[in-house]
Amino acid sequence: MEQLLVALDVDTGAEARALADRLRGAVGGFKIGNRLFTSEGPGLVEELASHGDRVFLDLKFHDIPNTVAGAIRAATRLGVWMVNVHASGGRAMMRAARAAADEEAARRSLTAPLVIAVTMLTSLDQAALAEIGLNGAVADQVERLAVLTESSGLDGVVASPQEIAIIRKVCGARFNIVTPGIRGAGDAKGDQSRTLSAAEALAAGASYLVVGRPIIAAADPHAAAERIALECRGQVS
Ligand code: C5P
Repeated sequence: MEQLLVALDVDTGAEARALADRLRGAVGGFKIGNRLFTSEGPGLVEELASHGDRVFLDLKFHDIPNTVAGAIRAATRLGVWMVNVHASGGRAMMRAARAAADEEAARRSLTAPLVIAVTMLTSLDQAALAEIGLNGAVADQVERLAVLTESSGLDGVVASPQEIAIIRKVCGARFNIVTPGIRGAGDAKGDQSRTLSAAEALAAGASYLVVGRPIIAAADPHAAAERIALECRGQVS
């Protein structure tokens, strides 16, 4: 299923390769985040990308524009399919990220990665936002940052299931909405509090789904991925 991205939230390259080998063909790509990247480094990213896997490099860059541009150029050279920054880094930072991806890809005859942004970390609630000096509603902040992301030329945002509908409304139909927090009826929620099923998230307007534990912690990860794909085709409830 093209829209299903699996979070490789493991510590070692051996575990990540084993999961990728079992899931290749059944899913649309693999997300490598701070945990695996910090333990295994860029070699693993390059290895999966050169294997033909779509890699979403989820390192959430947030720095001055020149530094983020350099990081995005490096990610582009690794051959990643999607990479992200924090929208709160601002317009100049996001425009620098966009330009870096496009210029580096053109220079190396590569396809530019999709560059998307995190609006607000879903771990931040209203009280946590007030503590860092943001007194508006979380939903308003998410909407503001999604609109800023689109007008800065990026390809989409990461959004919680609750935020999909409003972002789809204020941003264009081609704007990518990448949604974690996906759980089926029988799945443990873990630390995810506001969840939707895969089919519900797609119906709400998500472009891609990021699923970690319901697949990678399943006894049979391939079967778990196939079950989610079936659910999305409306074949199981
Ligand atoms: O295991 P689970 O399905 O909860 O994994 C979801 C993945 O999406 C994890 O890699 C997590 O870090 C990431 N994520 C999230 N919520 C966000 C942003 C990213 O769960 N708001």
